[in-house]
Amino acid sequence: MRTSRSSLLLGCVLLCSASLLYLGMSGTQCPQKSHRYRWMELNLGSSNQSLSLPDNFPEDTPLIFIGGFPRSGTTLMRVMLDAHNSVRCGEETRVIPRLLAMRATWSRSVKERIRLDEAGVTDQVLDSAVRAFLLEVIVGHGEPAPRLCNKDPFALKSLSYLARIFPKAKFVLMLRDGRAAVHSMISRKVTISGFDLNSYRDCLTKWSIAVEIMHSQCQAAGPSRCLPVRYEQLVLHPEEEMRTLLQFLDLQWDPSVLHHEEMIGKAGGVSLSKVERSTDQVMKPVNTEALSKWVGNIPSDVMSEMAEIAPMLIRLGYDPRASPPDYTRPEPNVSPYNYSQSVKATENEHPG
Ligand code: A3P
Repeated sequence: MRTSRSSLLLGCVLLCSASLLYLGMSGTQCPQKSHRYRWMELNLGSSNQSLSLPDNFPEDTPLIFIGGFPRSGTTLMRVMLDAHNSVRCGEETRVIPRLLAMRATWSRSVKERIRLDEAGVTDQVLDSAVRAFLLEVIVGHGEPAPRLCNKDPFALKSLSYLARIFPKAKFVLMLRDGRAAVHSMISRKVTISGFDLNSYRDCLTKWSIAVEIMHSQCQAAGPSRCLPVRYEQLVLHPEEEMRTLLQFLDLQWDPSVLHHEEMIGKAGGVSLSKVERSTDQVMKPVNTEALSKWVGNIPSDVMSEMAEIAPMLIRLGYDPRASPPDYTRPEPNVSPYNYSQSVKATENEHPG
């Protein structure tokens, strides 16, 4: 009697566990599969999920990678592209630059390289694993679209590597006056590991190094693979910049890219993260408010040595002595008003 009761109890426990496991799995896995399934239908004309991974996501998928130093308008660029009817970028994945950084360290150490080779973990094996990981994340974290794009600012520190493992990928490198990017990160307390948010000098020095790493790889990739876009030009001349960009990406002109704010939350439009630092700013239409916020906020000793502290300013064409620089005149459709007003306001706040 006691044995049959405990068997019954055990049976109940097993049944409950199996149901919970099933419910849990269906709750967590279905949406993931569905993005991938729908992407396959859209791009491969097939929904055969039994295909091996490289068949599902070919390496010549023409991905778009957007990056640059944080606070350089990378989110604005991705939402403008997200508004295009053929493109989906989505939120930052955060894991992609971390994996790329890890992959870089595996190759850097000669000792580790020998150990991996001895174990049969060759460069080819690693590249194919990294490619599969990136594609799974890029495809799986958002809606399917004919052109998929990824925006994780520091992923472009591995631009050359990405260009090699994805031979059809294109890169958009956002550039911005380092004084503005650094002021933005310090004033909004945006932490980046290794950057001392109490020191403009430290942040500007490291801004210059990080931008040089990305910019030199962009130049090496060449104009058919990598397009540098200046934040200042994007907000001052959005139509001109977006036309050049879409041509570079072999995409048709779509006027929606100039009104990304109207596409927020719409199907096939712009999806925003509740926790990303730029979300509140990209909800607004393209504007020129942020161009000269930094003026008057950088310590004078740092200002007087700017050219030496941040040599990339000159290399990118920003005058290190001008405060504020003339970022050129805005196009009439982007509130020309905004820019001159904010320069004037800053001058009044910080005379001299
Ligand atoms: P500020 O913090 O100086 O205002 P990122 O997304 O790469 O971190 O870049 C953030 C910068 O992009 C912010 O700079 C922000 O103002 C700017 N930005 C975001 N949305 C914008 C918009 N709609 N128009 C103009 N600039 C925008």
